[in-house]
Parts: sequence; C-alpha cells; structure tokens
Amino acid sequence: MDRIRLVGGNPLNGELPISGAKNAALPLMIASLLTDEPLTLTNVPRLADVTQLQRILVNHGVGVALEGRRRGEDDMLGQRITFTATDIVDTRAPYELVSKMRASFWVIGPLLSREGQAQVSLPGGCAIGTRPVDFYLDGLRALGADIEIDAGYVHARAPGGRLKGATVHFPRVSVGATHTILMAAVLAEGRTVIENAACEPEVGDLARCLVAMGAKIEGIDTHTLTVDGVEKLHGAKHAVLPDRIETGTYAMATAMAGGNVLLKGGRADLLQAALDVLGETGAHITQEEAGIRVTQNGNGIRPVDVETDPFPGFPTDLQAQYMALMTRAEGVTHIRETIFENRFMHVGELARFGADIKIDGQVATVTGVPELTGAEVMATDLRASVSLVIAGLVAKGETLVSRIYHLDRGFERLEDKLGRCGAEIERLAG
Ligand code: UD1
Repeated sequence: MDRIRLVGGNPLNGELPISGAKNAALPLMIASLLTDEPLTLTNVPRLADVTQLQRILVNHGVGVALEGRRRGEDDMLGQRITFTATDIVDTRAPYELVSKMRASFWVIGPLLSREGQAQVSLPGGCAIGTRPVDFYLDGLRALGADIEIDAGYVHARAPGGRLKGATVHFPRVSVGATHTILMAAVLAEGRTVIENAACEPEVGDLARCLVAMGAKIEGIDTHTLTVDGVEKLHGAKHAVLPDRIETGTYAMATAMAGGNVLLKGGRADLLQAALDVLGETGAHITQEEAGIRVTQNGNGIRPVDVETDPFPGFPTDLQAQYMALMTRAEGVTHIRETIFENRFMHVGELARFGADIKIDGQVATVTGVPELTGAEVMATDLRASVSLVIAGLVAKGETLVSRIYHLDRGFERLEDKLGRCGAEIERLAG
C-alpha cells in the first residue's frame, strides 16, 4: 500500500490549483440516471471516489465517455466526462459496490423516480459515526414509495410506477438526504416541498444542473426547496463547482507552514466562515480574480475556538485540518463537533506528533505546543488523513502517513500540489 513521506519545515509558496468539488461531482454524476440524454460534466476531479461511482453507474447501464486531455493542456485541469443513461439495465445497486462509498446510496432517488423501483444496498463509507439513512427513507415514503429492508438491501417501489409530490421535512439538515429527495422529486407527479433542506453549495450545484436539464426548482441555496415535477428531463452540460474543502485544506496548510499561496480557482464565498476564522488566527486572506491568496508570515498562530455547523457555518469536513493547525497555536483552542458523533479519530494520530489534545464528549481542547516532531501515522478517514499531512508540513524530521487510500478518495494529486509549492513530500509506492 502506498504511503506519503514528508519532511517538515518548508514554507509554501506559489500557485496551487483547486479541483472540482468531489461532493458536487458525485451527486451530479448520479443525476445522469434521470435522463436518457447525455449529461456532460466538466471540471470533474480525478479521484478514487469518482472512479468508484463510475463503476456503479456503468452497472446501472450508464455509458461513460471520458474526453482525453489535449496535448500541451495543463495536467491539473479537471476532466470532461459525458454520462448517458439511454436505458437503465439494472435497478439494483449491489453491496460490493455501494459499501465502498456512502454517496452511492443516493442512486436510490433517481432510480426510483425514473424507473419506479430500486434495490440498493445499505451504505458504507467513512466510519465517522453511525450515519443512518432514516431521513432518506422517510422522505421517499412521503413521496409515496413502498420501502422494505431485507438482508441489508432497501427495496423501494413507487406504486403505479411514479412518485407523488409531498412535503418532506427533515428533522435535521442532511446533505445526502436533500440530494436524494431532490432527485426523486424532479420526476414525481406534482409539487414537492423540501423543508429544512441542506443549503451546502454542492446542493445548489446539483439543483442548478437539474434546472439546466429541465427541472423546475425554486428556493435554490435556501432551506426550502420547492420542486414541480416534470414528465421528462433532457441532457445538459454543467461545470462542477470548485472544491471548498480542498480550498480550506490548503489554506490551513499555508497558515500552518507559512508562505504565500494562490489557491487558483478557489472561491471565498463557498467557505467564508472558515476563512474568517483563519484570518483571526493570523493568516492574511484575499480574494483575487484568479483565486484566493493566503499569506502567513510566521507571526505566530492565534487560538480561535470553533464549532462545526451546516453551511454557512464552519464545515465539519475542515475540522480535522483546523485541529492540526491549532496544535501549534499560542494558547488553548476548543473545537466542538456538532455534525458527526465520532469525528475525532485523528486525535490519537496527531498525538504521535507531540500534539496536546483532550477530548470531552463532542469538544476537543487543543493546547498549542512550540514544536511537532515527525512520526509514523495512519490515516483513519478521508478528512482526518489530510490533517496528518498538515501536521507533517511543520513537524521536525520525517513523517510517514500510511493507509493513504483514504486521501486518494478526496484529494487530487495532493503530493504534486504541495510539492510544487515547495513542500518536501513524496508518495512511496508499495
Ligand atoms: C455529506 C458529505 C460529507 C460531509 C457531510 C456534512 C458528501 C459525499 N459527503 O455527507 O463530506 O461531512 O455531508 O456536511 O457530500 N443523518 C441522520 N439520518 C439520515 C441522514 C443523516 O441522522 O438519514 C445525520 C448524520 O448521521 C449526521 C448528520 O445527519 O449526523 C448530517 O449528515 P449528512 O449531511 O447526511 O452527511 P452526508 O450527506 O452523509
């Protein structure tokens, strides 16, 4: 299994391109199941999760055509992929495919609304909490679906072959349940109102693509989505929005290592809460035409307490990276995780660098230390793994991160991007 080797101490300087958002690309790819015409996505990141979802879609009968890179083209540019679901050949999403990635469960929405039935294995994905699917199933039931769970599979059927619009109220904000019910509602008969919908930018990106495909959706980017079902959707072309989590990760890496980096293509409006916090910690952040510039001139890192929240709050997907940064702050920081109940798995690994972190329920208390020391550490989940890289950027001596398949699920060519900005980092094969 590949590992990443880092030697800490170099500042980051230069340009670092931001890829298309994984969490937008996945639901957008799934939306291709809703039409028999081609859906072309541009700025698709090159990630293990994208490849895995392609396999799942192919299994349902979707044609996947990848456009090759042109000679001389920037090798960091996103992919252009056309998905064509002329016929859905299989409405079953099997365990061996779905268990690798939780988002693949979302196919249940479009399969049910287009084909009137779906059999989808209960999901897997990062072990960051129990992550149930009750909101999804209650939402689909509200739209008239009959749902049974048998031998680890959800069997869903729309009586008469078509879902019926209804009001769906989520007990708490859920990104995946919002994606799923939105995709189910666009082809349902009549009006669906989704209350307490997630308004993460990736939900807005999906909704805008669905509108380009002919869907009728009001309230995009708010907590109430109103959908008037249509008989049919058509093909479209859509560019995946930039990855705000990747942007925030490299902003934190720069705040940690010091230096001056242009996060090319990054959009501050997608992660303002996190950037505001970084500004308070002492980093200097400006939106330029080409992207976000982050500078930190070694004036010390100030401790700033944060609490994770749904958008527009501080994202849970940046919590581990922020904790890594705070291990070097000049004082004590409290970090409260409110989205997932088991998202402090990186704490034990950060301790190997010499970090001082105590956990009490959902709150981590981080006491900054003057120096971290390189260590052998293990990635435990997608976002946690990159927090170890951030720590390694400043740790004295060598750091070896193993189990980096977690990293490859969500960060495109991380070692190339950081390496080009001056980090001493390499991938060790084997
Ligand atoms: C998505 C993101 C993930 C991010 C998370 C929160 C993708 C591919 N993944 O995950 O990176 O960390 O949003 O921003 O986009 N819940 C229930 N019942 C349900 C559904 C959710 O109780 O049926 C709970 C979850 O356990 C969690 C909370 O709701 O505590 C929010 O989870 P949710 O927004 O659904 O996360 P995902 O969509 O899985």
